[in-house]
Amino acid sequence: MAQNGTESTSTYLYDPTILSQLESSAFHAEYKDGVKPLNPGENFKLRPLCLEDFDKGYLQLLGQLTSVGEVTKEQFEDRFNKMKACDDSYYVTVIEDTSVNQVIGSATLVKEQKFIHHCSARARVEDVVVSDVYRGKQLGKVLVDVLVALGKKLNCYKISLECKDHNVKFYKIFKFEATHGQNYMQLRFFD
Ligand SMILES: CC(C)(COP(=O)(O)OP(=O)(O)OC[C@H]1O[C@@H](n2cnc3c(N)ncnc32)[C@H](O)[C@@H]1OP(=O)(O)O)[C@@H](O)C(=O)NCCC(=O)NCCS
Repeated sequence: MAQNGTESTSTYLYDPTILSQLESSAFHAEYKDGVKPLNPGENFKLRPLCLEDFDKGYLQLLGQLTSVGEVTKEQFEDRFNKMKACDDSYYVTVIEDTSVNQVIGSATLVKEQKFIHHCSARARVEDVVVSDVYRGKQLGKVLVDVLVALGKKLNCYKISLECKDHNVKFYKIFKFEATHGQNYMQLRFFD
């Protein structure tokens, strides 16, 4: 983390100080260097994705969500740098258990620039996952709560997501609701 000198700010996918400006009720402790300790006494840190997370089990965590495939460190870094170059677009937010140096939760907010709604932007919640051994500790709630606060802070006019039936109840906690007459449709090219 930035505070112990092992990671520099430049390796963050997005500016971590934005996290310290969020109006989020899901966590209470003070920020340090824009990186959030979730609760006093715990080793969970909320922060943007870092380049170093390749070695902290990030892709293995995503593997609990869907198929990831074989991704080399070079491919990971290339994709990370492309996302970082799209300024103000990719807000991949993770929770690290610093006692084991592992990323144990992740959720992404993607900001999409629009011409509509007075050249506004919309946000999409993607790839929400908490490691199976850490579930039930309110970490998923913290992640989604932070993304909602982030979407507001980034002046998005709405946030949307797609989820399986069994997760609808989870997202209702944050006041997401299905819209009558709207359909989620897809054309899938490969898994
Ligand atoms: C969905 C997921 C992220 C939840 O993470 P988590 O850290 O276990 O959830 P939390 O501990 O923060 O749960 C917060 C609350 O939501 C409830 N909850 C959690 N998962 C739920 C679900 N699938 N459906 C309904 N309620 C759920 C919890 O019971 C808890 O309620 P409480 O506040 O009354 O105790 C996690 O189960 C996961 O990673 N699942 C596999 C990947 C996945 O399906 N991701 C979603 C893709 S759309």
